[in-house]
Amino acid sequence: MRLKRDHTCGELNKATVGKEVRINGWINTRRDLGGIFFVDVRDRYGLIQVRFNNDLPSEILDVVKHLNNEDVIAVAGTIVERPADSVNKKIVSGEIEIEARDFELLNKAIPTPFEITKRETGSEDLRLKYRYLDLRTETLKRNMHLRHKASQAVRRFLNDKNFMEVETPILMKSTPEGARDFLVPSRVNPGKFYALPQSPQTYKQLLMVAGYDRYFQIVKCFRDEDLRADRQPEFTQIDCEMSFVDEADVRAIMEDMISTVFKETIGVDIPTPLPIVSFDEAMERYGSDKPDIRFDLEIKNVEAFAKATEFSVFHSALDNGGVIRALPVPNAAVFSRKKIDELTNHAKKYGAKGLAFVKNTEEGLQGGIAKFINEDAAKLLLDATEAKVGDLILFMADEWETALTALGALRTLLANEFGLVKKDEYKAVWVVDFPLFEKDSESGRLVARHHPFTSPKIEDIDKLESDPMSVKARAYDMALNGYEIGGGSIRIYKKDLQQRMFKALGIGKEEAQEKFGFLLGAFEYGAPPHGGIAFGLDRLIMVLTGESSIRDVIAFPKTTTAQSPMDGSPSGVDTKQLDELHIQLKKND
Ligand code: AMO
Ligand code: AMP
Repeated sequence: MRLKRDHTCGELNKATVGKEVRINGWINTRRDLGGIFFVDVRDRYGLIQVRFNNDLPSEILDVVKHLNNEDVIAVAGTIVERPADSVNKKIVSGEIEIEARDFELLNKAIPTPFEITKRETGSEDLRLKYRYLDLRTETLKRNMHLRHKASQAVRRFLNDKNFMEVETPILMKSTPEGARDFLVPSRVNPGKFYALPQSPQTYKQLLMVAGYDRYFQIVKCFRDEDLRADRQPEFTQIDCEMSFVDEADVRAIMEDMISTVFKETIGVDIPTPLPIVSFDEAMERYGSDKPDIRFDLEIKNVEAFAKATEFSVFHSALDNGGVIRALPVPNAAVFSRKKIDELTNHAKKYGAKGLAFVKNTEEGLQGGIAKFINEDAAKLLLDATEAKVGDLILFMADEWETALTALGALRTLLANEFGLVKKDEYKAVWVVDFPLFEKDSESGRLVARHHPFTSPKIEDIDKLESDPMSVKARAYDMALNGYEIGGGSIRIYKKDLQQRMFKALGIGKEEAQEKFGFLLGAFEYGAPPHGGIAFGLDRLIMVLTGESSIRDVIAFPKTTTAQSPMDGSPSGVDTKQLDELHIQLKKND
């Protein structure tokens, strides 16, 4: 190329008037005003208008006349002030333009499948197929830039605090984080497979045993699970581990990191220390273990009321060990039957069996289950919920976690509908005192709520065998605006306790040895007390950019069916490759 750039489009402004410059970039838009051509040239840094006057040599004008959007060009010219009536206040270079003197067409572009300046002209599938074009749009450029800034802020912060960045293997032995593994067959070890890491959990613990007392890594993790708006099969963690610490140490340094990232990327102050709520309180008040605390709309315990009613659904739920909880919704007594049916259907997606309701009107409680409520019961209800005239009260009778989760889902839905969620408000909270175990919904077996390396609370260790469901974990999650953006724990670092934990999970001695012998072995060579956390970088960037889809903050994401429409992965492979890997496909696949 002849006209190599000496400036980017983003650094030219009124102060550069009179300068001779060369720029390179893409044609964003173009206009022909009776022989004078105006072209907006775009690069990563910004946009600048170029004017091609009609006294330019005809070899130049002939080419300029036929330019299209997204052609790549080079321009040499002089920065001049725009006439007052054509100033564009929206862009940095809006008061100036380049008067072209020389020009070079670097490459032609065919018409794009959607307009780069109007992202909405392409469906998401189309934009994923042409992701390199989508990445040219202002939205994705801004998101990717913010992601870059956040990663740099994290690296700077952790480096300053003595964290050492260490890379851990991608081809590894399976780590249980609760999802399915992606497997990679080994050609040189027939019949054997690596697992892609669901997280570097075991490696970072081994680094603590190695004495690298502060570790971090911005690292890809792989989980074969059902995808959602905030979940990808491969995603990025800011993974950290520290030795000789307790929960408070990890929380203090990590909330400082998140606060720094907010300040350095979007200039927002997140005051620390962050509030802390227990898992039980988060569930009871917000119906979620990742509560959005930007708005109130809190759930209430209405069991005294439920007992005083004649509503059989409540009584049978209580008899079966269930709970009754209510969500008072201000000013929602006007809701129609249809609207309440919609809410019921939403709650059912979260496991609810039904949704009872009553309206608090000038004439007392009406509609729904009002006929089962006598005067005494009504008083108990209004005391417990503090409902005002005009409010709607929703009820859930179910097993504790189901009832609260379903009401929590309604809480979020209604807060959004009522506009209670302020877009540019950010509220983070630590959730602590999680149960160590939960019951697998299919098999009924105990599984680790976090992962099997999480330490039980010291005072609960004695109950590991006798009453495991009551044991609390030394775990903590950070929730931000209703997203779980990070989670971690203080770890087990003694072999015998780790073996007891495996036993409680139904992992026999032999299986534990086969799967985690390397870690158990390491614990015998002087393992320090340690703990850590991992943040979901993608989710953090979602919140920072205000995006509601995780795909909008990842350069090359997968669809919800785990495909990449751009390169067509996953794809079939030829028999020769499979043969080399000692793999045969089932007939019908
Ligand atoms: P955990 O499984 O809680 O902990 O993961 C940590 C954080 O990673 C993010 N995350 C995801 N983001 C996008 N897509 C996914 N599929 C996905 N899965 C998880 C979440 C989550 O909070 N090894 C432990 C951490 C530790 O104990 O130190 C772990 O991986 O934001
Ligand atoms: P039914 O007796 O099943 O017709 O239910 C009567 C009302 O109670 C309906 O509005 C149901 O949606 C509601 N309901 C049923 N099961 C539950 C439950 N577990 N919790 C709260 N409301 C319920």
